[in-house]
Formats: sequence, structure tokens, C-alpha cells
Amino acid sequence: MSQAAIRTDTIHVKPNPSGFGAEITGLDLSRPLPPAQLAAVKQAFADHAVVWFPDQPLTHDELEAFTLQIGPFGVDPFIKPMEGRPHILELRREANETARNFGAGWHSDWSFQDTPPAATLLHSKMTPPVGGDTLYADGTRAYDDLSAVMKKLLDGLVAIHSAALPYGVKGLFAHEQAGESDRTMQIIVSEEADKTHPHPLVRTHPVTCRKALYVSPVYTLGIEGMAEAESAAILGFLYKHMTQDKYVYRHHWRENMLTMWDNRCTLHFADGGYDGHLRVMHRTTVAGDVPR
Ligand code: SIN
Repeated sequence: MSQAAIRTDTIHVKPNPSGFGAEITGLDLSRPLPPAQLAAVKQAFADHAVVWFPDQPLTHDELEAFTLQIGPFGVDPFIKPMEGRPHILELRREANETARNFGAGWHSDWSFQDTPPAATLLHSKMTPPVGGDTLYADGTRAYDDLSAVMKKLLDGLVAIHSAALPYGVKGLFAHEQAGESDRTMQIIVSEEADKTHPHPLVRTHPVTCRKALYVSPVYTLGIEGMAEAESAAILGFLYKHMTQDKYVYRHHWRENMLTMWDNRCTLHFADGGYDGHLRVMHRTTVAGDVPR
């Protein structure tokens, strides 16, 4: 038996009961994965949309190398990356920090880009003893469960995405920076953030070919061609629908855990609740394609 075949046998994929989210053990991500193991990871990712690998103490080089095994790096705007590591963002909140924790709103990463990242990888370096979970919402099942009439209405719609609300010149972070923020992360507020980008409200996953809702309260401004009140009503319904408990997986971190999520069919939300404790995470993204 070949070495690759022996090592593939060690992979264990343990899905959540809903099928959304799965733990993967039996791998050493600090070394390049043999093709069969990498294929198994990619299959689990396609099947479960959020996968996590406990007990993976990765260096920066190893995190970058594993990311590149999944695909080329995405482009990460508006946040200053780590020194000498243009593709790694440090999501850091000090124990004495009072600024709202980063990512505390439902979103799909950088959905305002023409080609938003397919995947995000987040590696936990320091985890608080309480709070700091990440919540994930399953946009595929949320779409599947809609009535045929609602699906027909949504299928043809185009949503307008923008980074304006958080990163625009009149956005949340601009407002914060005008005051006395003690945020550790360096956010770059920019006029670039006020640009808008249309994407289908329902997108078809390029790997699974399944449809998923692709809107979020952080980055979706409205629906093309609709009056504000109309699009607010539809989007408000969708946000409530997608984030019902039955579609949400609450991820509890332990140190040295790597989690990878699929931005094409999920939303996520960084929960707080850890004031007084340090939380440090390292994040990379994998480039995606034009949503269709
Ligand atoms: C994010 O990438 O939105 C932050 C996730 C987290 O820190 O839990």
C-alpha cells in the first residue's frame, strides 16, 4: 500500500447531526497533504460548508501553505495585515479593549467584491475562557426550505453589495475613529468602500451546484429595481429566516484550531461575551469566482 493511501485512512470526518459543519481529525496540516487527503478535505468542505481541525499548532508559513493547498489567496481590503505577511490578518482584541468585537454582524466575507473569497480560514492562537464563539448560518438549507413561490421570486433578483456600512467614509469604523476608540486592529476607512457591486440574491455553488441565499445585513444595501421599503421587507424576512436556530451552528474554539468556511453558501457572526480576556486569531482567505 502506498504512503498516501495509509495516511488517507487516518482522516476522520465527524459531521454535526444537521450535516452543516464537520470536525476533521487525523491530519497534520503543518505538512503538505498528499493528494488523496487533500481531496478528502475538499469533499468534506463541499459536503458540510464549515470544517474545523482541532490541535493544529501552525506557524504563519504553515497556515499560508495550507491555505494555498485549498486555492490562491484572496484579496483582503480595509484591514492592515500582519507585518511582513500580506495575506494574514490578525483578529486581535485585548483583554482591556472596549471596542465592539470585530465581525459582530451576520456577513459573508467581502461579498462586495467582484470575485468574493470562496473560503476563509481562521486559526485560533489565544482563546478566551468564556465567549468568543463564531456562529455560522446555512444559506443552502435556508434556501431549500423556502416555498416554491418565494424561490421563484428570489431566483431572478439581484442584490446590491457594498462595504459602505462598516468601512465607508460615513461608516461604522469611520464613526468609531472620529471618537475615542481603543480598537487594536487597524481598520482602513476608504472611499473605495462606498462602491457598490451587484450579485445574484440566490447563487449557485460552483462545486455542489446547490443554490444558496447570498445576502447579509452587513454588506447588502438593497435589491436592484425595488423601492427601499420593498427590498427592506424582503431582506429583513430573509435575515430572520436564515439565522433561525435550525440553520445555525455555534462554533466553540479551542487554541490551535483551524476552521475553514465557505463564503458562497454561509453567513457567519463573531459572538462577543469575552470582555476582560485576550482573543487572537489569524485569518486568510482563498480567492473565489464571480457569483452566478
Ligand atoms: C470574521 O472573520 O468575521 C471574524 C470571525 C471571528 O472572529 O470569530
